[in-house]
Amino acid sequence: MITRKSAREITMMEEAGKLLASCHKEISKMMKPGVTTKEIDDFVEKFLADNGATPEQKGYNGYEYATCASVNDEICHGFPRSEPLSNGDIVTIDMVVNLNGGLADSAWTYVVGEADEKTQRFLDVTKESLYRGIKEAKAGNRIGDIGYAIQQYAEAEGYAVVRDFTGHGIGPTIHEEPHIPHFGLAGKGPRLKEGMVITIEPMLNEGSWHSKMDNNNWTARTVDGERSAQFEHTIVITKNEPLIITDQD
Ligand code: MF3
Ligand code: CO
Repeated sequence: MITRKSAREITMMEEAGKLLASCHKEISKMMKPGVTTKEIDDFVEKFLADNGATPEQKGYNGYEYATCASVNDEICHGFPRSEPLSNGDIVTIDMVVNLNGGLADSAWTYVVGEADEKTQRFLDVTKESLYRGIKEAKAGNRIGDIGYAIQQYAEAEGYAVVRDFTGHGIGPTIHEEPHIPHFGLAGKGPRLKEGMVITIEPMLNEGSWHSKMDNNNWTARTVDGERSAQFEHTIVITKNEPLIITDQD
């Protein structure tokens, strides 16, 4: 069942989203050579606790960390670890914030230190693909319209769209119906209605879209060792423009 949230639920999720956005802004300042994803994870735990929130991913299906930290060829669900990052590495930090029962989910790919041109373009296109998807997320459109917009743009720019992981409905648990694929056909799938809250979280690869699972049964990585990037927002479907509750601006 696809639920629609009450005004009160949406307000609670917006509060969680604001906190999550401010947490991402702090993380961006930490992305210097030598930092570890474990340090970032520890920072997030403390930042959320200091602000009366909890990391919803921790304990979710047995996941042990506050964040997912996916480096270079890792697509998603990378474990935070104590190996220092190097200049030019890209790392996706993904987290779900629970503030008084309101949830928000947002992932962002950062460059450690300085980005070369190829990396900057890759991240720019991945982020733009998210915003192209968000633009389609309005009442009356169908879920397929979102994936279609993302895939058309990403592939025209020379990147591949990961198919094994999707966006999702969210609240009161992390993953609710419906699935939101980042590829597909316009005009297909369930219709979007006012009050639905969903995530859109395209993962783009520089090489093949295929993924393989690590032995830890969590972390997905590219099959060819090429890099993967991801940007994710939680959004509310409204009568008008989609409301981005994890917006950092
Ligand atoms: N934030 C992730 C998503 O976008 C949720 C990962 S679940 C976890 O769907 F358990 F791996 F944390
Ligand atoms: Co998500």
